[in-house]
Amino acid sequence: MQCQHYELGLEGADSAFSIDASSVTFGAGALAEAGDVAKSLGMTRVAVMTDAELAKTEHVAMVLKSLSDAGIDIALYDTVRVEPTDQSFIEATEFAVNANVDGFISVGGGSVMDTAKAANLYSTYPADFLAYVNAPIGQGKPVPGPLKPHIACPTTSGTGSECTGIAVFDLLEMKAKTGIASKMIRPNKALIDPDCTLTLPANVVAASGFDVLSHALESYTARPYTKRPAAAAPSLRPSSQGANPWSDLGCAEALRLLGLYLERGVADANDIEARHQLMWASTLAGIAFGNAGCHAPHGMSYSVSGLCRDFQPAGYPDEAPLVPHGMSVIVNSPSVFRTTAGESPERHLDGARWLGADTNDVGPNEAGGVLADQIIDLMKQTDMPNGLSGVGYGQDDVGDLVAGSIKQRRLLDNAPIEIQEEQLTALYEGAISYW
Ligand SMILES: NC(=O)c1ccc[n+]([C@@H]2O[C@H](COP(=O)([O-])OP(=O)(O)OC[C@H]3O[C@@H](n4cnc5c(N)ncnc54)[C@H](O)[C@@H]3O)[C@@H](O)[C@H]2O)c1
Ligand SMILES: [Fe+2]
Repeated sequence: MQCQHYELGLEGADSAFSIDASSVTFGAGALAEAGDVAKSLGMTRVAVMTDAELAKTEHVAMVLKSLSDAGIDIALYDTVRVEPTDQSFIEATEFAVNANVDGFISVGGGSVMDTAKAANLYSTYPADFLAYVNAPIGQGKPVPGPLKPHIACPTTSGTGSECTGIAVFDLLEMKAKTGIASKMIRPNKALIDPDCTLTLPANVVAASGFDVLSHALESYTARPYTKRPAAAAPSLRPSSQGANPWSDLGCAEALRLLGLYLERGVADANDIEARHQLMWASTLAGIAFGNAGCHAPHGMSYSVSGLCRDFQPAGYPDEAPLVPHGMSVIVNSPSVFRTTAGESPERHLDGARWLGADTNDVGPNEAGGVLADQIIDLMKQTDMPNGLSGVGYGQDDVGDLVAGSIKQRRLLDNAPIEIQEEQLTALYEGAISYW
């Protein structure tokens, strides 16, 4: 598809893009369809995975009732760790092996859905834990074949994990996050009930909303697929294939919805319209980034969360310090977009305008600043941390932050600019504080 942004014919580069997503059902009350969907996927005994807080909610109760009404046996695993680790993935896998199930149902945020993906993978194709983890941190071995069916029911308006072939975890010995990426681990079905968002604490709406915002902006500004070296065979084309015309559609609409509804959805748990629209934005951005890939803000986030010392945000479990994923991403984003705007000023201006900025009379040289300022305004209005200093880091930590994320090549190589150590250092330095 020839156009100014997608320039065909570059030597060695790809010339086609692929579109993959889970089958999606979206609407209030959709969780009551779980039993019927499970039956149609051939499930007879399922592992239902959730976290301890969600286990007490009506969302999980609704899924359990629907499954038992459909005559399906249930093995409940309700101790998923929020912000999972290699250790917690292994514990969930042990549960799945012992429970002898023929399907998985995850009811929760990204932490729960990613844990179910990993438990499904390692219980179906047992292997050394690092075997399927992205290289160069893990061995990056291909998943041998299809997994058991998985129905993902997201309860946060955030990660889009219900539509992606990615599972993210904290690798404890490395003190940084990393992931497993394979089309094989994408859930078969996404059952998305926007009513789940009505019980979300404000801080979780904000953090997960900024995760969506960065998924959309990163996919839209990623290196175009026409500039990525073609894979050795079409079947090896990665999900992180770069910006492409399909993903652009979802990014644009997700950003427009965030501009209209993010502040409202954070401010008022009774604003049903805003909360439902944020869930739709999360779905659109999930499908978009699942087919384009994120870049530097996400790559940088993996050490921001992994090195956390004492940050303890409201609305999250208080057993251990943690930087929620959306916050660990958004503290980097303004610094990154200021820097990447030179590659595609018009795309950075599109993003700023969709988020609500007035971009009339703004020249290409100002695009990065205008987009960064618009994000920073939204961060202030929703009580997000003020850059890296807001989650406990200072100039002295930059070396460790760089060391923890320089190996995230799947993400860093999807950026529109070359990112090696010097550039990464400058990006973290630019993210220390914004106001
Ligand atoms: N696989 C992917 O494609 C992908 C993409 C982005 C992020 N992630 C990962 O997802 C994780 C973050 O997931 P998240 O932001 O969805 O949050 P989460 O799953 O970590 O949950 C955050 C908190 O919100 C609570 N909660 C969730 N839903 C609720 C509801 N409806 N009502 C009340 N409380 C609720 C949980 O109990 C928890 O305390 C991180 O590990 C991140 O790295 C994965
Ligand atoms: Fe994310």
